[in-house]
Amino acid sequence: MRLAPSIFAADLADIAGGLALCERGGADLVHVDVMDGHFVPNLTFGIPVIKAMRARTRLPLDLHLMVANPDRLLDDYLAAAGSPAQVTVHWEAAPHLDRLLERIRQGGARAGVAVNPATPVELLADALPRLDYVLVMSVNPGFSGQAFLPRALDKVRRLRRMIEISGAPVEIEMDGGIDRDNIAEVVSSGVEMCVVGSAIFGAGDPLAMMSELRERARPETQ
Ligand code: DX5
Ligand code: ZN
Repeated sequence: MRLAPSIFAADLADIAGGLALCERGGADLVHVDVMDGHFVPNLTFGIPVIKAMRARTRLPLDLHLMVANPDRLLDDYLAAAGSPAQVTVHWEAAPHLDRLLERIRQGGARAGVAVNPATPVELLADALPRLDYVLVMSVNPGFSGQAFLPRALDKVRRLRRMIEISGAPVEIEMDGGIDRDNIAEVVSSGVEMCVVGSAIFGAGDPLAMMSELRERARPETQ
């Protein structure tokens, strides 16, 4: 399991401090929620802030673009994220998904697509060859600290089967409401990358919580 703390849930007046916690806690990626106030009601990080984060950590950035028109600034997002990085666009915001995914890969990042809770994973069947990973949302995007939607686990199991049948080397990421109580089930359903926001940064000891999440995600402890 790879752990991607969501910096949105950190103290946003001290982003560098949040990034340092991610590094000290052994995070594999830093999840960056880009919200544009259109695709989702909330507004978070723009390109200058992503660039500033890039300069402050050696960890790869995991850009989650919750934006209405990911096509428009894609090259700038790719440049700001640097390399290695991964960039996720939402299925619901990308009518020309195939082209967009190709551009992400050509830009040097791993390409992912996110699906909202009401979007069936079956819609991704023809996109799998262009994808490095799928991000299954386990909350409705826009806010951290929301309750986990357990039906997302069934979507992961269905997606896992689709991936096996296709033979494409596609990973599964999950985002929203993951915590110490559900991470074991999340991982055993087939999730390889876990995004965790408030459960880490809202904990009294974020470093201890990161190691507890890892421990609980290990197959032998399930
Ligand atoms: C929700 C974001 C998530 C969020 C996760 O729109 O995409 O990445 O920050 O936060 P938690 O873990 O608190 O649900
Ligand atoms: Zn996210």
